[in-house]
Amino acid sequence: SAVYRAGVSGRRPALPVAFPELERAARRRMSRAAFAYIAGSAGLERTDRADTDAFGRRRIVPRVLRDVSQRDLSIELFGRRLPTPLLLAPIGVLDLARRDGDAAAARAAAAHGVPAVLSNQASAPMETVAAAMEAVRPGAARWFQLYWSSSRDLVESLVARAEACGCEAIVVTLDTHVLGWRPRDLALGYLPFSRGLGIAQYTSDPVFHRLVRDRLATAGPRERTAVTPAAVASFASILRHHPGDLRENLRSGEPLAAVETFLDVFADPSLGWDDLAFLREHTRLPIVLKGVLHPDDARRAVDAGVDAVQVSTHGGRQLDGEIAALDALPGVVDAVDGRLPVLFDSGIRGGADAVIALALGARAVAVGRPYAYALAVAGERGVSELLRNLLAELDITLGLSGVARVADLDRSVLATATPPT
Ligand code: FNR
Repeated sequence: SAVYRAGVSGRRPALPVAFPELERAARRRMSRAAFAYIAGSAGLERTDRADTDAFGRRRIVPRVLRDVSQRDLSIELFGRRLPTPLLLAPIGVLDLARRDGDAAAARAAAAHGVPAVLSNQASAPMETVAAAMEAVRPGAARWFQLYWSSSRDLVESLVARAEACGCEAIVVTLDTHVLGWRPRDLALGYLPFSRGLGIAQYTSDPVFHRLVRDRLATAGPRERTAVTPAAVASFASILRHHPGDLRENLRSGEPLAAVETFLDVFADPSLGWDDLAFLREHTRLPIVLKGVLHPDDARRAVDAGVDAVQVSTHGGRQLDGEIAALDALPGVVDAVDGRLPVLFDSGIRGGADAVIALALGARAVAVGRPYAYALAVAGERGVSELLRNLLAELDITLGLSGVARVADLDRSVLATATPPT
């Protein structure tokens, strides 16, 4: 009701409420290349569209005459009670949306009690963002998202830093061991990587500095300024297949040792299930595997002793033609069979979407692009308003569905005659 009261009192919203207008407003605020990086997804963007379309095929069947006067959005996760089932998905290079975007978004999350998942590709070091959250609300929940580097020393260092700055979980993103083919982004020069943006977690890391020094010590003068043939397989595929732009951008850029080292160590496409033991040994924090879509992988995750899986298509940015995240969710939930919490992202555009994913068995849902756009349009206030709107719509949808508590949502509020097509 606070949202409606604010509307009646004539206070102007900082943001368009509906997602399509929010996206348009963000597009006007950003450079073409920045918008292409955030909005763009893989290939023909079929999975990106499927992610949002999948919500349109699910229907809520509300129940009536159930007391919904006291509604409870809280959930329990990793032994902590969270006031809402929302998370801010990790988004790299938020400075493309707005200067100091990481801290602005994280402060808004802290104000709402929403955990912020700090990206491995953030524009600001995790310590800076954690301190910004502490200033808003001591103990504000934050997690760290890890891209598993080919340097184990770096993995160890990043995880230790995450623990030291109060992160409460490690989210290992498993769908980016090879970087996706993103035409909109490639057409405009692959802005973040060509400029060396989004590597603040690396450049603030002592192990990374050592790797850069080692590289400079062994490289000849030519290698110091050119992309090395050893560029990591994930980027190598793009370097190999793309007609030149990225190479040129990289060649004409600033001193490149840091960027080159980053390209070398960003990912490790050779990882297997056995490698998870290394992570387990090096952190006491809960481990979330992000990007699990196959029921068999969900079962393996249970066997591997991790603490949660996150169903995600990375917002359709990685594998075009991949199953929509929402269509994969029931299979993963059934496979896990209550042994682990299942988290969800990809395609959430409003509170009703969140209710549908929660009803299909997600414990919590993460939003991605909506908050990046809110940040571009109106900074911290924009993200705060976005979260308030999402939570208001979630609360209203819950009440209208005849369900008082998020924890009581299950598939019985969904129509069954909606087979994924
Ligand atoms: C992402 N995502 C992402 N995921 C991750 O694990 N680490 C990262 O650094 C990033 N970076 C990133 C940048 C941008 C611009 C976008 C849009 C997304 C994926 C993100 O966490 C999440 O999976 C999707 O954004 C969810 O889909 P929606 O909500 O954008 O549809």
